[in-house]
Parts: sequence; C-alpha cells; structure tokens
Amino acid sequence: MKQSLMAAIMTMMSLSTFANQPDSVWVRPDVKNGTRDMQIAYSIDKKHWTHVSCNLFESDYGTWGSEKKLYYPVLSYDGKIYRSVFIPNLKNGQIAVTESEDFALWKPQDYPYISSDSEFQKIVATQENVSKTNIIRIPYSGLENLLNKKMRNDRNGALERDNFIASGANIANRTEPIEATLSVNWDDRKAISPDLMGIFFEDISYAADGGLYAELIQNRDFEYTADDHRDWNAKTAWRLEGNGTTWDIETKAPIHKNNAHYSTLKTITPGAKLINEGWDGITLEKGKKYNLSLFTKGAGAFRVSLVNNGTVVASKTFKATKEWQQQKVVLTTSSSADKAELVIEPIEACNIDLDFISLFPQETFKGHANGLRKDLAEVIADLKPRFVRFPGGCASHGQGIDNIYHWQATVGDLWEREPAMNIWSYHQTRGLGFHEYFQFCEDIGAEPLPVLAAGVPCQNSWKGGAGQQGGIPFEADLKGKPSPYTYMGKPLTMESYLQELLDLIEWANGDAKTSELAKIRAKAGHPKPFNLKYLGIGNEDLIGDVFLKRYRFLIDGIRKAHPEITIVGTVGPFWEGSDYEYGWREAKANNIPIVDEHYYNSISWYFHHRDFYDNYDRNGTKVYLGEWASKGNNVVNALIEASYLTNVERNADVVVMSSYAPLLAKEGHTSWNPDLIYFNNKEVKPTANYYVQRAFGQNSGDEYIYADLQVNGGNDIRERMDYSVVKDSQTGDLIIKVVSLLPKASNIKIQLGEEAMQGYSTTADLTVLSKENEPDRQREWDVNTTRTLTIGSEFTLDVPNYSVSIIRIKKAKK
Ligand code: AHR
Repeated sequence: MKQSLMAAIMTMMSLSTFANQPDSVWVRPDVKNGTRDMQIAYSIDKKHWTHVSCNLFESDYGTWGSEKKLYYPVLSYDGKIYRSVFIPNLKNGQIAVTESEDFALWKPQDYPYISSDSEFQKIVATQENVSKTNIIRIPYSGLENLLNKKMRNDRNGALERDNFIASGANIANRTEPIEATLSVNWDDRKAISPDLMGIFFEDISYAADGGLYAELIQNRDFEYTADDHRDWNAKTAWRLEGNGTTWDIETKAPIHKNNAHYSTLKTITPGAKLINEGWDGITLEKGKKYNLSLFTKGAGAFRVSLVNNGTVVASKTFKATKEWQQQKVVLTTSSSADKAELVIEPIEACNIDLDFISLFPQETFKGHANGLRKDLAEVIADLKPRFVRFPGGCASHGQGIDNIYHWQATVGDLWEREPAMNIWSYHQTRGLGFHEYFQFCEDIGAEPLPVLAAGVPCQNSWKGGAGQQGGIPFEADLKGKPSPYTYMGKPLTMESYLQELLDLIEWANGDAKTSELAKIRAKAGHPKPFNLKYLGIGNEDLIGDVFLKRYRFLIDGIRKAHPEITIVGTVGPFWEGSDYEYGWREAKANNIPIVDEHYYNSISWYFHHRDFYDNYDRNGTKVYLGEWASKGNNVVNALIEASYLTNVERNADVVVMSSYAPLLAKEGHTSWNPDLIYFNNKEVKPTANYYVQRAFGQNSGDEYIYADLQVNGGNDIRERMDYSVVKDSQTGDLIIKVVSLLPKASNIKIQLGEEAMQGYSTTADLTVLSKENEPDRQREWDVNTTRTLTIGSEFTLDVPNYSVSIIRIKKAKK
C-alpha cells in the first residue's frame, strides 16, 4: 500500500483513538534490568498502569549481542525535552544519555566516561535508587507520539508478514487475459543520475585475499596472528612434513618492519618439506604460466614445487642469497589441479630465511602484476558499474580504533604494507590495496568511491573499549600526552587522520612531477592522476556526539582544502530510526552533498515501499543507496529488487548512486548472506540478483521519461507490475523496463508515439529474465536471454509471469 495512503489512514486513526484524552499523563520506565529495550508504562491516575510494548529506544552500547543492555533507566522531562540516563554496563565506568523532543524519536546515545570508579559506583547507586520510583508527568502528546510510533511499527510488522507471491497466487487462476497499455509521455521527462548503478566491494567473506586478489599462497608473509582469528598464528596455512629440518618463525631481522615475521629452515639432512595449502588448495590450469617469487637469505639450495596429489606439476630450484633478496621465476604447469600445494624442499644442508612467498597466475584481469582474478573481475566488470565503493563498510571503520583502515598502509611495495586483522575475523594482507582498487576502477570505467572512517570505529566493535569505542583523540584532548593509538609507527590523532585523508586526495590526483605522494602512485605504475571525485566519510555510524565532532572536523577540513571533492556522508544502518533521522538532520544542516543509506530488508518491505523515495526533498542532499538487498537469493528476491530499482530509477534525480551489498562471498568462508556473487577457487556463481543488477547496469540512462500504465485487472494486478522508461543520451538509446510480479503471463501494448520514434531503429534488443513458477523457492532464472524484437511506434510486449523485460531501442544508424 502506498505510504501516503497509509499515512492518511494513520492520521485518521490517531485522531479518532486519542480525541478527548487528558492533557498530561504519568509515565514510568517499565523494563527489566539487563535487557536491551527501553519501554514504559503509563497511567492516568498513578495507580493503574498500562505497558506500551514499543521501544522508546534500544541500548546501542558495545558489541552486538553481548553488551547492548540497559540498567536502571531514569526518565525526566523539563517541560521541553525528554531525557533518559541509564547504565549500559555495570563495569565499564560509562553512563548512557539520550534525549528526545517528542518522546518517540530519541537522539543517538552518548556514553560519557565517569572520571573515577567511586564516582561511577555512586552514580550507579543513585540510578538504582531513582529508577525504583521514577515516575514523571509528561504531556499527553508525548505518549500519543509513542503510541503512533507503535502503530507504525505494528503496521510495518504486519506488512512484513505479507508474502506478495502467496497473496497474489490466485491471480494465476483468472481466466481473463491480463492486458495493459504503457503510454510514454515524451513531454514529461527529467534528468536522472547517469551513475545510479555501481558496486560496493568489501573485504568480507574472503572477497579480497583468497578471492578477487589473485595471490595463490595463503599467509605468504607469515603475518597471521591470533588477532585475525583465535586459532591462527604465523605458521597458519603452512606445515612441515618429514625429518631432518627445524622450522621456526623469526622476527630478528625482517625485510621490513611492517612485515616482521619470517620463516627459518635449518636442515641437517634433506627430506623435509614446508608446505603451503593455498586458499582451500591451489587451483592451477594446465600449460599456464605462474609467477613465483620469494625472499631468501642464508645458505643452501632448495626446490619449490607445485604438487597435486603427489604429482609435481611445476618445479624450480633456488639458492639462498646472502642478504635478503627477492628471487623471481616463472612456472609453467604440466597439468591442471584443483587442490595443489606449494612445497619447499631443502635439497642440501641449509640455513635459510624465507619470506613473502608468492604465486600469481600470469593471466590476471587486464594482465596487471599483483592483479585480480580474471574470471571474477570479468563478472564484476559485466555489471558495468559506474562507481566502486571500497574497501568496505565495517571493514573500513574497523574493529576498534586500532583497526580503522588506513589507506597509506595499503600502498607501496607489498612487504612495506601493513597487514591488519579483518573485522570479519580473518586477515587482510592489503595486497589488494588502494592502488589496486583505483586501478580496477579505471580498468572497468568506474569512479572510485573510497569510504574511510569518520574518526570512529564500528560502534559494535568488541575491541578497544566499549560503547562507541570512543574516537581517535584530538590533540587538544591529549593535553600534551602522546596518542595511545598509532598506525605504521606514527601517532594517530584526529589532526593526523585528517591529513591522511587530504594525502589520499593528493596521492590520487596530484602531479607526479611535483608531489611526493603522487610519486608513490607513479612509482607503482600510474603516473597519470586517478581523478578521484568522491570521498565517503563514515559508515553507518552511531550519530552521537563523539561521531559528530569528528565527522564535522573531517568534512570541514576536506572542504577547505579540496572543495572539488564530493563528500558522501552517512546516515546509519537502517531506513528509519535515530541514526537515520539525526544523520539526515546533520546532512541538511551541514549541506552534505550525498549521504549513504543502508537497508537490508525483506521482500515484503520492498514490495510495500516502492514509493520510498517519492517524498524525498528534491533540493539539497542526495542519496547514495550504498548497501541494500532483500535478504535472499531466490528469484523472488531478484524480482522485487528489479521492481524496486524501476522505482529508484524514477527517483534517480534524488538517488544518485546505488549498490547491492555485499558483492562477493567465497563458498565455505561466508560471513554474510545473501551476496551478489558466490565463488570458489574454480567457479564464479552469479546469483539471480546479479542478473538483475547487470541488466540495470547495462541499461541505465540519464533521462527519465514518464509513462502511464493502465491495466485491465484490479489493484492486486496493477501493484504487481512495475516499469521505467529511460534514455541514455550518450548512445541516444531508449530503454523500457517492465517487471512483472504476477503468477500469470500478460501483454503490454507499448505506445511510443510516431513522432518520438523518428530516427530509431525498428528492431530492439529484448532481454528477458523469467521464472515460470516457485520464484520464492528457487534460485535460478528459467530464462535469461537477449533477442531481437520488432517494434514500432506502437507494439505489444509479451510479458512472462515473474519476469524482468528490458527493451533497448537503438538510435537508427545514419
Ligand atoms: O555489507 C555488509 C556490512 O553491512 C557492511 O560492512 C556494513 O556497512 C553493513 O552493516
């Protein structure tokens, strides 16, 4: 149901329900200590109480699951502002504070530290005491706002339970044919964003190391630690087999301080082997060339082989160098292998140090050294993304302050880069670093959209504190003391962090003849600027005071130094709620050009919110729908995403960018579902959702042309048909998209008009994705084809049930 209609009904309901109510009412917290949700009870006479099962707010403190709790909440009202203080955790010395203007929408929480333990204990005791008798009188309008919020939540809950496939199933039995007419109104058009369709690449689910990054050796530099994963250490993914050799991890004289660990093999009698298992094995293709490189130091000869099930498929002999030196050879494989291993075998008495043992296929995407896995990169490139957001959402703002992503730690020689733990519980080599991300963007014709932390880590981190985990300190707050945080050996303050962001812009766009930073880029093979236009600041953070202070500082600093950069801000992890509302308030007040919205919702949510952007303000801040997906990889998910996208296209004057999330997931290492593309070492498995993204990416436009759809059936039929008409001014092509959520085939008479079609071809490309039945149970489209369609100023399109049809009408060749 349309949002506007629902709003009208709700207003009527609220009027009729709450007319003749008292001016004010008694309210008291009604929560069990140690739970997450702040709820109240109210009373007219202070004697009989009614519980309201709707959260004023939820504790947003600390790690998901284990820490988000509230104790001894106390409410107050000063005649204007409602306030609440609670203890989020009985041991951390912090209190939680929040306030509200209307009793329904509460400000994102702040968690000030209490200066001493005794002071904190006093506050806890006071809160405990006061909370027992905390009854306040508030205007009835406050309660009414909360009850209205409850009604909205209940309505959304009910819509969530509405499965539009099931509720539309009976349409299949109707005997009358479903016929519709789509009339294109050429006089009614508007400019829309040409950059609507993009991708969000996050190093999640082994998307980078072991995934898109083509390195075949796992833990090539012996830098895995228990921080990455509790069972891991510098030897992970390696093992020593056989006798006569000892194997140790050393740190005395590394190649580089950022790559502190290396292996030492001491062999008395040859026969032992140091083996790397790769990423679930090493997959090799017969007759292909592989670049093997490794650093050696010491004395003795050894052999490096690729071995598959006992069969050597390639091998080379090395002699250790006196000092650390990188040796490089090319291996050609004699047979293919699914699960080969890399075997290092001393062939005489040895004492050798080894580090940075790397194996890359020569065939990478676009042939770059230190490049990307070709098949995977090609499937991504086929999406025709106009931009790439990277290097992650949570992976960007990190697991505690120490884990905030620093782009500078990811460029330069590989062994100089600083590896890091990945918030998704594994290791980031940073071999796929900012240079490689920018190069990939250039290779696929996409704008780079790096997103970096707003000076605060992920608010749900378990590392480095609690609450919002604080933020990077400002110099002034340190009062002359050194910052407790460093990266690459340098002290980390907000001032240095801002400089780091400014340095990124210079590194990407500076003149390699004059700028030291740009010289790093040139040395890595890209003398020309990368032409960075966008910079994302923050990722769905809690919009509390700690965040706002840093966010404003960074935005201000970037604006002053680089007014040419378009900043993309953040508005929380959901489509509504405190962070969304306060994030938007900040965006409007601070004129932030674009904000990044995130929502992972059900198919029902998307079905009932296809008008989500219709009411957005056309002026001012625009939207980047940076992370969205409909919680599944069945065809029904892809269908509703297509239907939603036609509506996003209609609103692409406001929504200027969008990206499905997450993009990649390796089978067996998936930390998040659903994803757009699954893969293993051999195969790339695009999902039904992928084909929708690809169809829209390959057929986007920069002008929206309004059209009118008349359907011969009832509303249940009309609301299961969506469409959009766009023009791509670069090619002149006209693109019509029709999405049918109907269980029955239909046909649409498309009226383009004689005049408008002058200069267009009489044939068009018709791409169809369709599913005969059970779209809610199956993951693959039955039909996924493109064919030629004869068209005219008026023509009929046969629309299969559960389908996406895209007609691309080309400009006639002169
Ligand atoms: O896309 C997966 C995660 O979802 C992102 O890291 C984060 O931004 C969001 O919560």
